[in-house]
Amino acid sequence: MDLRIEPATVADVQLAKKQHARFWGDRDLRDLHQLPLVHEFGETCLVARAADGGSSDDDLVLGYILGMVTPSAVGYIHLVATRDDVRGLGVGRRLHAAFAEAAKRHGALRLKAITNPLNAGSIAFHTAIGFEASTVEDYYGSGSPMVVFRRELG
Ligand SMILES: CC(C)(COP(=O)(O)OP(=O)(O)OC[C@H]1O[C@@H](n2cnc3c(N)ncnc32)[C@H](O)[C@@H]1OP(=O)(O)O)[C@@H](O)C(=O)NCCC(=O)NCCS
Repeated sequence: MDLRIEPATVADVQLAKKQHARFWGDRDLRDLHQLPLVHEFGETCLVARAADGGSSDDDLVLGYILGMVTPSAVGYIHLVATRDDVRGLGVGRRLHAAFAEAAKRHGALRLKAITNPLNAGSIAFHTAIGFEASTVEDYYGSGSPMVVFRRELG
């Protein structure tokens, strides 16, 4: 699939929120799509588009990854999602590769992401692209574990 991966814009994040169910299904994660992320961490907030730009404004975002580099040199992935009609085609893998390059340029030595233990698709995806997964009890407070993914950057 011919893709362009480039810095995400405010309009991209707004479109991803508008089409939220196409990226996240029944889960409502719209509150996590804060626009300051794009303003303040623009180098590590990326969007994947069809190389030809898509057929309309509603077709501009095939996937996105919003993240940042922490002071301890971790490239932290806050959100990654691909649209329901392009899954399994390598869009998520390419977004991650582009994020890893951007994070490295900004000093990251390793990558980290988290997911809900019930999100089997996310666990399979992160494992397939080279992350190690471990469950951290109480990550989200008492009785709320999360799966933490880690990968060293070579
Ligand atoms: C997780 C997600 C981003 C994967 O994106 P994608 O574009 O389908 O992933 P890719 O096509 O690049 O797949 C990369 C690898 O992961 C594997 N993979 C991806 N999703 C998978 C799934 N649901 N089950 C098993 N393997 C999966 C692919 O088989 C592929 O492995 P391979 O290269 O060895 O064949 C996408 O399914 C998604 O947006 N899910 C909803 C949002 C979400 O849960 N995000 C993660 C929250 S932390």
